Amino acid sequence: MQSVKPSWTAGCVLVCGNDRGQESPKPSCGRQGGAELRDWLKDRMRERGLKGRVLSSRTSCLGVCSSKGVTVDIVPGPGGTRRMLVLDAASEREALWAQVEACLLGGGAEAPALGEL
Ligand code: FES
Repeated sequence: MQSVKPSWTAGCVLVCGNDRGQESPKPSCGRQGGAELRDWLKDRMRERGLKGRVLSSRTSCLGVCSSKGVTVDIVPGPGGTRRMLVLDAASEREALWAQVEACLLGGGAEAPALGEL
């Protein structure tokens, strides 16, 4: 095993894109726009010049599986406070961005409330 230092220094945002398919009675983020949300987040980070500072990545199931939306895990660098959220992938994108700024970029003001767990 080898310890490595990632190139992204401010933290990462993990967006669940797991899709269990229509047959499953259990909700899954992929069926609620998880992949599209992650693509939007990646574009937003690129627009704001954050490539290399913050990583956004699509993950498999994060073990939350809510029918209320997509699970997102905001993981800051050392000393920060991790946030696990569930949100509507379409209507709460900007609120997610405010959470990312507050958690990873020292956004200052308290971010608007989301479906925090
Ligand atoms: S399917 Fe997304 S958290 Fe389980």
